[in-house]
Order: sequence, then structure tokens, then C-alpha cells
Amino acid sequence: MASTGTRKTTPADITAAAVASFEGCADPRLRELMQSLVRHLHGFATEVGLTEEEWREMIVTLTATGHITDARRQEFILWSDSLGLSMLVDALAHALPPGATESTVLGPFYVPGAPQRSYGESMVVEPGAGIPAWVYGRVLDVSGAPIAGAELDVWQNGADMLYAVQRPEAEEDHLRGRYLTREDGSYAFVAVRPVPYPIPDDGPVGRMLSATGRHPWRPAHIHMIVRASGYKTVTTHVFDAVSEYLDSDAVFAVKPSLFRTFVERSPDDPERPPSVDGEWVSLENDIVLARAEDGEDGGAVVDPGRTA
Ligand SMILES: [Fe+2]
Repeated sequence: MASTGTRKTTPADITAAAVASFEGCADPRLRELMQSLVRHLHGFATEVGLTEEEWREMIVTLTATGHITDARRQEFILWSDSLGLSMLVDALAHALPPGATESTVLGPFYVPGAPQRSYGESMVVEPGAGIPAWVYGRVLDVSGAPIAGAELDVWQNGADMLYAVQRPEAEEDHLRGRYLTREDGSYAFVAVRPVPYPIPDDGPVGRMLSATGRHPWRPAHIHMIVRASGYKTVTTHVFDAVSEYLDSDAVFAVKPSLFRTFVERSPDDPERPPSVDGEWVSLENDIVLARAEDGEDGGAVVDPGRTA
């Protein structure tokens, strides 16, 4: 017979009470999310026998994550990326038809409001950014028909391994731009050959990587978000097919279907873009978009405006 005065509160009692506290939540999805979160969080603590010292260290780490995060540094996305959560959410969200270009992580360096640039225009604003790269291709639907007026929102790092948003003194629009496809679905722009880079490792995520014997490196890539009215928006990368770290990306974002080859070209190559001097490379990359389904955001091209 239970005696209310002497019955011990067990770990299972605490979990059950915390789960039950959300029973009155009017939003069924929010109730499901909160109850499942509590079950898994408690399950984690129970499974590892989480100590008070370890729990305090988690609070300190989360606090440091908040403190280091600002308009230019997003440590929460780094946590999500470096634990594979971003790629898991991406995989759960994007069931695509065969042939459609696969998605991958947005990453922490996307800044909305890149300048609109014309066909073939260079997005290299600062000198010495790296080996010029003529990037070209078409945006197509899954049947191979061209999509006119699709927007490619592009950003990448330079030879110094950094994105412009990481350098306070940088030209804001260096190595980023938005390009529209022409009537035949074609696009082109001048970029630079991207280089591998470490994700920012001077904060809490870096301390975790170092403490666990993981490296912070990502293989060389160019980021793109491709939007077209009536089609699913795809957030993706183009990976340099011969880059280091393709087999150990710190954020688990590599998909072999996104590997492309940079072709080395000579200075006297007749196809050399007018804005390019000396050695250059070219990269062909077609992008295939899936049709938006009923009720889905059709990815209409809008200018999100500048944030800073
Ligand atoms: Fe990146």
C-alpha cells in the first residue's frame, strides 16, 4: 500500500510528470514536439547517467554559444551542422524525384540580399581572391526543359578561406551575387576556385571538435540557393570533385551527385571571359528543379532585401 509520505520519486516519475505537463497544450504539433523532446532529453540523461558537473558544463557551453552568436557569427547553426542535425532535417524534408539536384546544408555564412548581377558578371569584388572560375550551366526541369527566370543566389569563400561576412573590413558584396537564367535556362558568372576551410573553431563547437578528436575542415564548394516560380527551391553546393576532405566533411554535407570538375584553362583560351587575366578554370553545372506540389511555396523569386 502506497504511503504518500515515504514514497520515493524515481527518475521515471520525473520524466512522466514533465511529459504530462504538456497534455493541455492546444496545438497538437507543439505538444508532440515538446513531449518527444522531454522524453529523449531525459532518456539521454538517464542512459549516460549524466552527472551534475556534466550538466553544468552543458549550461556553460550553451551560454557561450549564445554569447558568441551575433549578426556575423551563428554558433547554433554550427552545432546543428557539426552534429549532423542539419543534414538529417534536410534529408527528412526533401524527397525529390529522380534527376533533381540534391540539397545540402545552408551553413552559417548565408546573408540575404546579395546584389543582382547580370549574365556572366563577376562576383569578385576584391583583388587576389583566387583563381578565376567561369561557372556556367542551365537550370532545367526533370524532363530537361529549360527554366527561364530562375534565380541563383550564390556565395563562396576566397583563397584566404573566408567568406566576406567573416571579415568586418571586407567588401560586403565580395564573392556573392544573384543571377537570373536566360530564356534558354542558361546562366553564367565569374567566381573563384573555392578552397577547403575550417568551420569557425574558436568557440564552443571548436572546443567540442578538439576535445573529441574531430577536425573542423570542409571540402571546397560554392553555395547556391536556386529558386523559380512553380518549382521547389533547392539549397545546395557544388563540390570541387578533387578537393581534400570530401570523405570527412565536418558537417556531413557531402553528396557525390554534387561533385563537379573544375577544368584548367590557359590564358590564351579564346573562351576566356573579358574580366579574367592569366590562368583560369571553368566549371559546368546544370541544376534540375522539381515541380512544387500543391500548397507548397513555389519558390517565387523575391528580393529579401539587405540585412545590414
Ligand atoms: Fe561553405
